[in-house]
Amino acid sequence: MKPSADKDDQRASYFEQLYRDDSDPWLVRQRWYEERKRAILLASLPQRRFRHAYEPGCGNGELTVELARRCNHVLAADLSAQALRLARQRLLDAGCGDHVSLAQHRLPQDWPRILPGEDKFDLIVLSEIAYYLSPEELGRVVEHSIASLAPGGSIVLCHWRAPFAQRIVSTVRVHAAFQDAPGLHRVLRHEETDFLLGIWSNDARSVAQREGFA
Ligand SMILES: C[S@@+](CC[C@H](N)C(=O)[O-])C[C@H]1O[C@@H](n2cnc3c(N)ncnc32)[C@H](O)[C@@H]1O
Repeated sequence: MKPSADKDDQRASYFEQLYRDDSDPWLVRQRWYEERKRAILLASLPQRRFRHAYEPGCGNGELTVELARRCNHVLAADLSAQALRLARQRLLDAGCGDHVSLAQHRLPQDWPRILPGEDKFDLIVLSEIAYYLSPEELGRVVEHSIASLAPGGSIVLCHWRAPFAQRIVSTVRVHAAFQDAPGLHRVLRHEETDFLLGIWSNDARSVAQREGFA
């Protein structure tokens, strides 16, 4: 079921207010839990370098900075204008703003359109965002992800497992939607009590197979 425009606005104002009240509402800059989770995600990426990444729901840009160090270009986006201001400052402070574009996107409707001949994404990162989508919106995000993934590209999902008030779809259902999608192969699954990390690609080969020694 598609959420109404009112519900959409409520969700947007919820995040906007959160970032206005606190520049780091989930303590991603302070908690060892968050730092460790980012390190696991980054260590799990099947390639050392990526050409062109898309990170919707980038929040205050903490993961964006790390992705920027591994990518030639990152398109980082968020629903919240205040989150984008914080991300811009974080990228400037880290000295990696020059190859990151920031945009205000609301998923699924603002997913970037890739025109014929344009470069698709070889990395798509959905970190702690997809459980805020309705089942119908999640389905559209799965379709967009597949359509805009370059050959051999990776789709990374990382989500907190326990239920919370704003969650619409469970983490298990979010990851299952990608697991069941046609043409995607899971190349990694990392499961902990607290979070689930999964990576899917349109290339079924393992990292060793890609490097030609398995
Ligand atoms: C929990 S934070 C995650 C931030 C960051 N990705 C991380 O892993 O730390 C969720 C972010 O998703 C954004 N968000 C929520 N729903 C969204 C939507 N439908 N479209 C775009 N961004 C959205 C929020 O504004 C917020 O910045």
